[in-house]
Amino acid sequence: MMRTRPLKVALLGCGVVGSEVARIMTTHADDLAARIGAPLELAGVAVRRPSKVREGIDPALITTDATALVKRGDIDVVVEVIGGVEPARTLITTAFEHGASVVSANKALLAEDGATLFAAAEKHGKDLYYEAAVAGAIPLLRPLRESLAGDKVNRVLGIVNGTTNFILDRMDSSGAGYSEALDEATALGYAEADPTADVEGFDAAAKAAILAGIAFHTRVRLDDVHREGLTEVTSADIASARRMGCTVKLLAICERAADGKSVTARVHPAMIPLSHPLASVREAYNAVFVEAEAAGQLMFYGPGAGGAPTASAVLGDLVAVCRNRLGESTGPGESAYTRLPVSSMAEVVTRYHISLDVADKPGVLAQVATVFAEHDVSIDTVRQQGRLDSEGLGGEASLVVVTHRAPDAALSGTVEALRKLDTVRGVASIMRVEGE
Ligand code: NDP
Ligand code: HSE
Repeated sequence: MMRTRPLKVALLGCGVVGSEVARIMTTHADDLAARIGAPLELAGVAVRRPSKVREGIDPALITTDATALVKRGDIDVVVEVIGGVEPARTLITTAFEHGASVVSANKALLAEDGATLFAAAEKHGKDLYYEAAVAGAIPLLRPLRESLAGDKVNRVLGIVNGTTNFILDRMDSSGAGYSEALDEATALGYAEADPTADVEGFDAAAKAAILAGIAFHTRVRLDDVHREGLTEVTSADIASARRMGCTVKLLAICERAADGKSVTARVHPAMIPLSHPLASVREAYNAVFVEAEAAGQLMFYGPGAGGAPTASAVLGDLVAVCRNRLGESTGPGESAYTRLPVSSMAEVVTRYHISLDVADKPGVLAQVATVFAEHDVSIDTVRQQGRLDSEGLGGEASLVVVTHRAPDAALSGTVEALRKLDTVRGVASIMRVEGE
């Protein structure tokens, strides 16, 4: 039965994502109404610049007063696609207070202060859905939150930032350096004018916090996530990865500790074997690999950004929230009952690829190996290549050491001690090896 009174939707933000949400709401109005059981009505659109021409949107709906829009009292669902922490947080909590449910794509806010939003939603008996906040179009959060609700997720390993995957893919496939690949990403519209959030890993870290919270039923905030960007990755690292049968990816990794008593969340570049499913994720695509106790290994793949793909996830949430509204129910709220602590990076156990510049003379390899042994870090492989020094006389070598699994703290201690050796001219790079 189709209800004739429409469900009123307030759109906060009408940029890359918001304009696509409005477009799909209009062009697919009949299908959406049939799926929901009531038509949708775009009741208002809040923006910063009211005079900007917005194709397909009735100018009478445009307002700069987002607060008044969410306070109207007749709004069923607020779609927040402004981004950032404020005023988005206040607008969302005000929307709950005035009877609306909320759909948001705002990973920065959810990672920074999701707790405030979840508490407000619960207090007022409303829905907060945010599928678009992680990996754009890819259905990921709902499968984790609902389809895997009966399983136990132990690990989530993902490429969750399209811009950085594009840059690393170009460095790998064309031999481009970091700056050249970044310029190409900018020219193609993947990287923003200020690419800091992407290349320094902030965007991926926010997504890792959200993923870890859902996967392990605990609270994980942005500050809990260890973060390293990809600005230090060199062509030499990529070439070295190739020699090992690996490629370099910026990974978000969320893990439950072996004893099950804590979790970790981290973002950093890592080498993964070419045989791993994430190695074949090219260009600006995203993919997330989930390891669950009963389900085994699952992979979610697709476009992680862009107006239309992200709007697809927003619309999916909008339909779900509207159905709940008509059924006078709500979907699952925050699940943080395990209250597992988030351990620091020092406790993460993984493998490492360390590239050293050393003097090429008797006993150096033994010295280096001793430092690893003293820190209880076991060496897997060593590769040495002689090279000429600055005067072209030789006597120098590049030494690449790949370790077995060891705690990050032990590796840090090893590197600190290596730097103190006279025969070690420098530590050229340290990269973790994952996915084996
Ligand atoms: P844009 O910058 O393109 O759009 C932001 C919109 O918010 C603009 O319409 C802007 O108005 C409006 N706005 C900004 N400040 C205010 C304010 N104080 N009051 C009212 N309106 C305001 O951002 P995106 O569409 O790219 O991103 C929106 C959200 O979606 C973010 O949380 C982002 O992280 C998330 N997201 C984006 C993806 C993408 O590919 N772009 C992918 C996944 C998630 P005006 O138009 O007048 O400037
Ligand atoms: N800047 C992000 C990316 C957009 O490159 O993936 C999606 O969050």
